[in-house]
Amino acid sequence: MSTTRPKFKNPRAKHDFKGRTVSITGVGAYVPAKAMTNFELEKIVDTTDEWITSRTGIKERRIAAKDEFTSDMAARAAQRAMKAAGVTADQVDLIIVATITPDMVFPSTACLVQQKIGANRAAAFDLEAACSGFIYGLEIAQQFIMSRTYDTVIVIGAEKLSSVVDWTDRNTCVLFGDGAGCAVLQSRSNSHGLLTAVMGADGSKAELLHMPGGGSRCPATTQSVNARLHFLRMEGKETFKHAVQAMVSAATEALRRCDLKVSDMKCIIPHQANRRIIDAVGDRLNARPDQLFINLDRYGNTSAASVAIALDEAVSSGRIHRGDLVLLVVFGAGLTWGAAVIEW
Ligand code: UT7
Repeated sequence: MSTTRPKFKNPRAKHDFKGRTVSITGVGAYVPAKAMTNFELEKIVDTTDEWITSRTGIKERRIAAKDEFTSDMAARAAQRAMKAAGVTADQVDLIIVATITPDMVFPSTACLVQQKIGANRAAAFDLEAACSGFIYGLEIAQQFIMSRTYDTVIVIGAEKLSSVVDWTDRNTCVLFGDGAGCAVLQSRSNSHGLLTAVMGADGSKAELLHMPGGGSRCPATTQSVNARLHFLRMEGKETFKHAVQAMVSAATEALRRCDLKVSDMKCIIPHQANRRIIDAVGDRLNARPDQLFINLDRYGNTSAASVAIALDEAVSSGRIHRGDLVLLVVFGAGLTWGAAVIEW
């Protein structure tokens, strides 16, 4: 028996195993029809379009209808990604939904998505890594595929943040939006694919961005509702500082693992939380402005859906073509962070 390892077409793919690569074979996204502009927010809280635009870069965000839930948006994004990948529902082995706004505490949103898309063979679970969830999902999907447990995994980032935003708190309500994005991951022989994914966390700073109510620590009571504990809370300035540091170091580590440089990247897709965070990360990485993909002006911060929606838009708008190198980099509550390098 030969002990020689096969020669890989793609020498950078660190996770190649006997010539198999984990490829993203399709992406898709869905955002609700209703756009809420900064001018509409001026009527709700003490804010201005000028403040929101200059401090965040956000001009509008999408708001889901009352009867439109995270699982509905996730299912729509999944169906679009599966169509792009040429994958039918019965081919899906595993559904991973990254979200902090599940339809309900249990069962998982992934199970509801399974039913909605008719992927009856698929296993399904949710993962919670806040805004970093999509990258965590890519890494988990990659491991399942490389171990040959599953062949076709769909990773969805989906959020209805409008349901947990305190619409009386100008510090947070101007920042967030709803939507979903999905990637189909499959094993391919000697092909392009996910080169590496990095994940990180620091639970000592959990208080910076959290929702106190609704879990086992603080179940819903009249008092907890009156104290507005079922809405998200954020210490913006401190979160901002950690976001820049963590995203720069995650991106640097992901590139180091692949022996690649920032200048090799055709496109860098950062978590869409704040334009000033994106610019600071870009500056520290010495990225050219034209490498950075930005769509937060139209969607705000959609947490786990953010880079998934952006990746879909980068592909459909022609910013990324097959063979291009793409860097995804994220940061979120937890704290959590991550980065992924993809040869598209
Ligand atoms: O996705 C997960 C990760 N999330 C993030 O990474 C978000 C990180 N943080 C941020 O993006 C920024 O910190 C914010 C956009 C949230 C805030 O920007 P900032 O420059 O850090 O503002 P600040 O919180 O220091 O507030 C400055 C002033 C304050 O007034 P005083 O105390 O100086 O009088 C705020 O009360 O701006 C005031 N302010 C507002 N004014 C008008 C805060 N929100 C608003 C608002 N409209 N919506």
